[in-house]
Amino acid sequence: MFRLNRTIATPKLWNKRKSQQQQQQQPRRSPFFFLSLFLLSILFFFFLTYTFIPKSLFSNSSKTINEALYPQYTHCKTQIPGEKFLWYAPHSGFSNQLSEFKNAILMAGILNRTLIVPPILDHHAVALGSCPKFRVQSPKEIRLSVWDNVIELLRSGRYVSMADIIDISALLSSSLVRAIDFRVFMSLWCGLNMDLACSYELNARLSMVDSLKQCGSLLSGNDGNIDQCLFAVDEDCRTTVWMYQNEVNGALDSFQPDEQLKKKRKISYVRRRRDVYKTLGPGSEAESVTVLAFGSLFTAPYKGSELYIDIQKAPGDPRIKSLIKKIEFLSFVPEIINSGKELAVQTIKAPFLCAQLRLLDGQFKNHWKATFLGLKQKLDSLRQTGSRPIHIFVMTDLPQGNWTGTYLGALARDSANFRLYFLREGDLLVTKTEKKLALAGHGLRFESVPGSMVAVAKLEKHCSPDIFPDVLLYIEETVCSCASLGFVGTAGSTIEESIEAMRKFGTCYNSNSDSNVTYIRL
Ligand SMILES: *[C@@H]1O[C@H](CO)[C@@H](O)[C@H](O)[C@H]1NC(C)=O
Ligand SMILES: *[C@@H]1O[C@H](CO)[C@@H](O)[C@H](O)[C@H]1NC(C)=O
Ligand SMILES: *[C@@H]1O[C@H](CO)[C@@H](O)[C@H](O)[C@H]1NC(C)=O
Repeated sequence: MFRLNRTIATPKLWNKRKSQQQQQQQPRRSPFFFLSLFLLSILFFFFLTYTFIPKSLFSNSSKTINEALYPQYTHCKTQIPGEKFLWYAPHSGFSNQLSEFKNAILMAGILNRTLIVPPILDHHAVALGSCPKFRVQSPKEIRLSVWDNVIELLRSGRYVSMADIIDISALLSSSLVRAIDFRVFMSLWCGLNMDLACSYELNARLSMVDSLKQCGSLLSGNDGNIDQCLFAVDEDCRTTVWMYQNEVNGALDSFQPDEQLKKKRKISYVRRRRDVYKTLGPGSEAESVTVLAFGSLFTAPYKGSELYIDIQKAPGDPRIKSLIKKIEFLSFVPEIINSGKELAVQTIKAPFLCAQLRLLDGQFKNHWKATFLGLKQKLDSLRQTGSRPIHIFVMTDLPQGNWTGTYLGALARDSANFRLYFLREGDLLVTKTEKKLALAGHGLRFESVPGSMVAVAKLEKHCSPDIFPDVLLYIEETVCSCASLGFVGTAGSTIEESIEAMRKFGTCYNSNSDSNVTYIRL
């Protein structure tokens, strides 16, 4: 019953299973294993020292690294001829990561670059900071911490692509944007056998992690830009609001740090509105570079402006206009939608209300009264009109054992008037969906880049997770989008916003599916 305060992977669960595996492997290890591990680390240390000397010498004289010093990164030009890519650093929880994913799709469309689709990062593993307070991690810092988390995901076998969960197939087939899986891209760009990262052999895995760290440090722009290979964007929400068309490039934004803040934090920043196409597109320094790396692409409305990206319309560009319309709402993949519908149709089998009650996480602890009051009012009005019992699907982070003494406990006891339903980790429907997702492997099935098929095949063979991270939250959200008696959410929760969007866009009724939900409608 514990699921509102986390996104996709439940690290606890994963670690448990992994450590069980490891424990089983332990006794088989011979002393030679540790000896070779020791030797390997010495070798690696030697290697590190060796490769880092020329780099630091060079960085002193110029910000741009010459490719000649990095023969291993000439892949930039050779293995992926002509193709240009866009990378960015998502952060925070799933909802944030999804909104940044949409912004990345938009940027990739405008700049005509192939979007590198990232994995879903661990909940709050990466934090941006506060744009309104001008206190954020720099793009470079955030790219590096994303990289650390990605390696951790690979290493522990929890890697799930955004495209495993979010359906981008229609977008890609519309040709408005091109995409490549991050692992596939890294195989090509770093010239690495990424599938080794999924190997059960510890040595292979360790050495892969080290190579990945090096490559990631370069891709993050740790050493500055690399000729024709990498352009790392340094602008962030402290200095820049990206816009597109119809505005003066470089004009001041309406939101600026006030005098007090400038004094207190010694800020010299000015926020300018810059045209992303003019700054990073054709004719710019960045245009010809293979990889363009942004930092966070987080934005939100703030004081009449936007914090970082202000592109809501593109009247002069029908292609981007239609892209903006398409990404307004991105649905879960069909496996998830179908499971949500299945629960509505086959288990609840009647019109129902959805109650999303976030009671434990952070600020929500202090708002039980208001949260329950909203539900009570809704139920009171339903009781006046509808038949009984009233069916309610409950999604909450409060464990069932703690319902006693709360309004939820009272509802559960009053079986003459209410019937409650909920989903739990490990329920058949949930595990069934996880298996289907692992089998579908959407994240690796959309390669548009020539020469990537070998890498894809290897990854599919070795890197499909044996246990797919649970998808309970997404199924619950889908069930709630099917609730024809209405939806009562917790104010201020991103889950509430996400369900409202699904309901608005008719996820439950509009998409193709195995089951008919029509009779659930009132
Ligand atoms: C976008 O990029 C693709 C592939 O690099 C290229 O074939 C196409 O002509 C470009 N489109 C525009 C509008 O520049
Ligand atoms: C829930 O119940 C457990 C065990 O009964 C207790 O330890 C815990 O503090 C309770 N949590 C809340 C939020 O009431
Ligand atoms: C769904 O509804 C359509 C039309 O009402 C019907 O023909 C079809 O058999 C139904 N499918 C299922 C799986 O119940």
